[in-house]
Amino acid sequence: MKVATVVGARPQFVKAAPVSRAFGAAGVDEVLVHTGQHYDGGMSDVFFAELGLPAPRHHLGVGSGSHGVQTARMLRAVEAVLRHERPDWTLVYGDTNSTLAGALASVKLGVPVAHVEAGLRSFDRRMPEELNRIVTDRVARLLFAPTPAAVQNLAREGICGAWVHRVGDVMLDACRMFGPLAERSCDVLERLALDPRRFALVTVHRASNTDDPRTLGVIVAALARLAESLRVVFPVHPRTREAMVRHGLEARLRGPGVALLPPVGYLESTVLQRAAAVVVTDSGGMQKEAFFHGTPCVTLRETTEWPELVELGWNVLVPPHDPATIAGAVLRAAGGPRPSRASTDALYGSGEAARRIAEVLVG
Ligand code: UD1
Repeated sequence: MKVATVVGARPQFVKAAPVSRAFGAAGVDEVLVHTGQHYDGGMSDVFFAELGLPAPRHHLGVGSGSHGVQTARMLRAVEAVLRHERPDWTLVYGDTNSTLAGALASVKLGVPVAHVEAGLRSFDRRMPEELNRIVTDRVARLLFAPTPAAVQNLAREGICGAWVHRVGDVMLDACRMFGPLAERSCDVLERLALDPRRFALVTVHRASNTDDPRTLGVIVAALARLAESLRVVFPVHPRTREAMVRHGLEARLRGPGVALLPPVGYLESTVLQRAAAVVVTDSGGMQKEAFFHGTPCVTLRETTEWPELVELGWNVLVPPHDPATIAGAVLRAAGGPRPSRASTDALYGSGEAARRIAEVLVG
């Protein structure tokens, strides 16, 4: 069986790593297609190297652009690859423009699509990711849902039956697979002189937080305030760096309490999340990873695709309106008692999602 896997953005490299291994074990011929949505070494190459992903068989070099331009370039290039490779299935991950383009190009050629991380919804259609998810789930033939809530979301949209498989979360697989290697091989805590549980790990990259200077200003002011009581470690996404520089906000985080870093790879991110007192983020994946590592999370958004973590008390949603409110919530999460983990470990499966995906596809 031949499967074309379309990836392009940082979180997709992480999700593809365990599935690629499972495909190898199941004898699947996987054609890895990299759209080039993320192209910097720190956003792309480092993940291939650390996670042992094979070099992409096709690199489409699409790069950045407006949503229409970027997606159109991907559609055109993915279509050409699929015509050439003639796979039995196309596999896409998550909710990025690469996901949407891979799915659309494929179904238009009559090649069925399997979607990993199907059924997630923020119920906020202002997010480009929400539109990408809805369309991809609509056209997919096999839907691999990570959680019971995702299965319910699909059922509400009339997508159910043999097409939907609750397999668990491939990010948990990745976490189990690479966690020990990260602990053994990564010296980021020593290099940055960080004491475990004495710092906040921060990431921000959502369009809703970076593209409006007022919102970004609130987040920067909150981090500056937080840094007075808790060290802040902030690997900065290129789009966020660019927006902070453009609006003159970067200088406000130049104090001794803040470590502004380039984007970190998967292994460093793992060690930092494990050691942090609290994770502050707008990333979807890091909300879960923080939980996997037993670290509380504050999410700088109004909504989340992972409501179960909010219900359990591991994640707090704090929309970025006011610096003092954000800083207060982060300090409370960092210093408060950790919620119980009893009976929650099965929430995202047992770390066997990749194997099950391979089994279903081969079957
Ligand atoms: C994309 C996804 C988002 C995902 C995120 C992970 C969409 C709509 N969004 O957002 O869901 O959480 O990836 O990081 O697909 N840039 C670089 N170098 C790079 C990549 C990006 O400099 O290697 C800069 C460019 O200025 C670009 C901007 O970042 O214009 C945005 O990149 P893009 O891939 O469009 O969106 P992300 O914010 O990364």
